Amino acid sequence: MSALEPAGRDAERLSVLFTWMWFGALVIWLGMIGLALWVPRSEAAASARGRRALIIGGGVVFPLVVLTLLLVFGVAELPATLARGHDRVTLEITGRQWWWRVRYLEPGFEPLELANEIRLPVGRRIDAHLLSDNVVHSFWVPALTGKMDMVPGRINRIALEPTRTGTFQGACAEFCGLSHAHMHLDVVTLEPAAFEQWLAAQRAGAQAPDDAEAQRGAEAFLDRGCGVCHTVRGTDAAGRAGPDLTHVGSRLSLAAGLLPNDANAFSQWITGTERLKPGAHMPAFAALPAAEVSALSTYLSRLR
Ligand code: CUA
Repeated sequence: MSALEPAGRDAERLSVLFTWMWFGALVIWLGMIGLALWVPRSEAAASARGRRALIIGGGVVFPLVVLTLLLVFGVAELPATLARGHDRVTLEITGRQWWWRVRYLEPGFEPLELANEIRLPVGRRIDAHLLSDNVVHSFWVPALTGKMDMVPGRINRIALEPTRTGTFQGACAEFCGLSHAHMHLDVVTLEPAAFEQWLAAQRAGAQAPDDAEAQRGAEAFLDRGCGVCHTVRGTDAAGRAGPDLTHVGSRLSLAAGLLPNDANAFSQWITGTERLKPGAHMPAFAALPAAEVSALSTYLSRLR
């Protein structure tokens, strides 16, 4: 997670600003070391005139000029960074404890809901509305842009404009409770055509179970009440409290970046939520028979 390897228009600007500030600071530091070595040896500096010149020049004029330049340089970046995207797609990202609800909004379509992963097209500027319905979180994908708080009762906006394809990491940058450190986000940037393809695939309902084991898992999912909290589009599961699992098997990780995405990780998560993510609102289903956990994991991991 580095803001100095930008993959977004706004991160590029921040990175250039940072580089200028860094070199500026280096030059000033070298100048100060030079002065510190020169002054004790210099008769000119020791004279009343020399002392006044150092105090007024170094203590008033110099910082005034440097800080004014820095302010102008920094503020000049603001209009471009605050510019809205006017893409037909907008994102709505909600900070939860401790995961990200991600919705793709597009006129003419039902909102599409995902979790802990966003995919974006390169070269398009997409607005994200940042929300929270619990505590303050902070949305931060350093490769794309600066961070922005998610404040209950407010809609904060940030624009995301990827400049190259790749996979990047995001994290919550505001302490939001016990498992704040386990609130990661995967960001994948795609060529526009690949993005449209992905979006269309995500709009489809869940894949039907393709063998007896997955079928047992699908039944257990409904029988054990998983659908009260989770949605799997195309089934009776329509819960809203937890992440939408319609295509959970296609995501890069599980539990907001905590686990890899495979059947074994699903089993670990289902039986050990509290142990893996302290304070997690999903109870651990540790008492489920092993065969049922395994069937559930098979079913979920195949929801691609
Ligand atoms: Cu959400 Cu820290």
